[in-house]
Amino acid sequence: MRRSESSPPRYEDVQGAKERVWWNPSTWTRRAWLIVSTVILLIVVAVVGAVVGVRATRGADDGSDNSYPDYFKLNYTLADTYSGTTFFDKFTYFRDYDPAGGHVHYVDPEYAGWFNLTYATETTVIVKVDTTVGPGDEPDASTGRFTVRLESKTQYGPGLFLFDVKHTPYGCATWPALWLADPNNWPFNGEIDIMEAVNHGNTGNLMALHTSEGCTMENVRREHTGVAGQGDCHNATNHNTGCTVRGPPATFGPEFNRGGGGIVALEWRREGIRVWVFPRAASPAVSRLPGAGDAPPDPSAWGAPLADFPATRCDVDKHFRNQSIIVNIDLCGYYTEAVWESSGCSPKTCRQYVSETPSAFHDAYWEFGAFQVWTAS
Ligand SMILES: *[C@@H]1O[C@H](CO)[C@@H](O)[C@H](O)[C@H]1NC(C)=O
Ligand SMILES: *[C@@H]1O[C@H](CO)[C@@H](O)[C@H](O)[C@H]1NC(C)=O
Ligand SMILES: *[C@@H]1O[C@H](CO)[C@@H](O)[C@H](O)[C@H]1NC(C)=O
Ligand SMILES: *[C@@H]1O[C@H](CO)[C@@H](O)[C@H](O)[C@H]1NC(C)=O
Repeated sequence: MRRSESSPPRYEDVQGAKERVWWNPSTWTRRAWLIVSTVILLIVVAVVGAVVGVRATRGADDGSDNSYPDYFKLNYTLADTYSGTTFFDKFTYFRDYDPAGGHVHYVDPEYAGWFNLTYATETTVIVKVDTTVGPGDEPDASTGRFTVRLESKTQYGPGLFLFDVKHTPYGCATWPALWLADPNNWPFNGEIDIMEAVNHGNTGNLMALHTSEGCTMENVRREHTGVAGQGDCHNATNHNTGCTVRGPPATFGPEFNRGGGGIVALEWRREGIRVWVFPRAASPAVSRLPGAGDAPPDPSAWGAPLADFPATRCDVDKHFRNQSIIVNIDLCGYYTEAVWESSGCSPKTCRQYVSETPSAFHDAYWEFGAFQVWTAS
């Protein structure tokens, strides 16, 4: 029925003229509003629930990350060997003031030969500290004792580094280390400390990473038998302490040497960095370096390492590059002197002791069989 044009329009008809369309909320009925609100509420509940649930499985709200890298088996091929009478040809002898504040003079190959600080036969390699000069000698050790710091000429990327270590240096004032670093780009290309101890060397092997900012082991799942210390690897945290793991006393010094030392392995790969110390007698399966005809080494079959630095919160490819193998024996220096008294090495100061007591350094030598560098094919 047509309405009369003259009569005023009804209120309902005016409202109805504003078409009800889904995209215009001002036209929705109460029922539509109810449905839409319910759907939004359900979505919010679902999203919040999912986030809370994920947090719970990752270790609540402490920011810890329970994920763990897959250290799958890599196929290693022998890339480099350091052994026998050519061992030292593959190193440069560092010649400068000691960056670690030690009471030493790092000498060149000529001096090292003269004082017999680097010595190699077909089967064994020795790196030692001078045990001959003292008060009244010319030269003497009043400004530091003669020692060496060797840096491999070749710089390496990721790989498996095996070290046959027959004897580790120890004794008051000693600070020996076997490590990897890029001497020209520190800390930006990283540092990997494989073996390190000070003074009596009887508190276990100290392993560490030192990096630029942004590499940490804090709140990261790790699988190792050693005892973790500081988590942050950044060199500026706590005066370059690094992220550390310490092994038991049998992994360095007199106790390690007593059994003829052992095989030390560093696996550096995208997934993480791991160190094993296998005392010779305790591990027949890994009591010597693989020879020609042996199966290539397979860390995935070795069980938990002594130290595990997974890449979970540290981009290993970014923080570690161009690494030289470095061997040295420092004397005194920041670390050694900080624990001089607690190690029971007083009453002389560390520096006096080094200058005046050449006979104290007969155990301050590294003895190696060989080093091998394996790369994944
Ligand atoms: C290692 O070699 C085996 C046998 O050739 C092969 O099946 C495997 O994929 C290789 N692994 C890697 C990580 O390349
Ligand atoms: C040099 O040191 C080695 C190892 O300690 C030793 O066997 C050798 O006799 C020494 N050589 C000399 C000339 O003293
Ligand atoms: C850490 O490395 C930076 C960059 O080279 C340097 O400036 C700083 O002195 C280092 N800090 C320590 C404590 O080694
Ligand atoms: C690594 O060393 C090579 C050769 O010395 C150099 O050209 C390159 O820039 C270095 N890379 C980094 C990332 O430092």
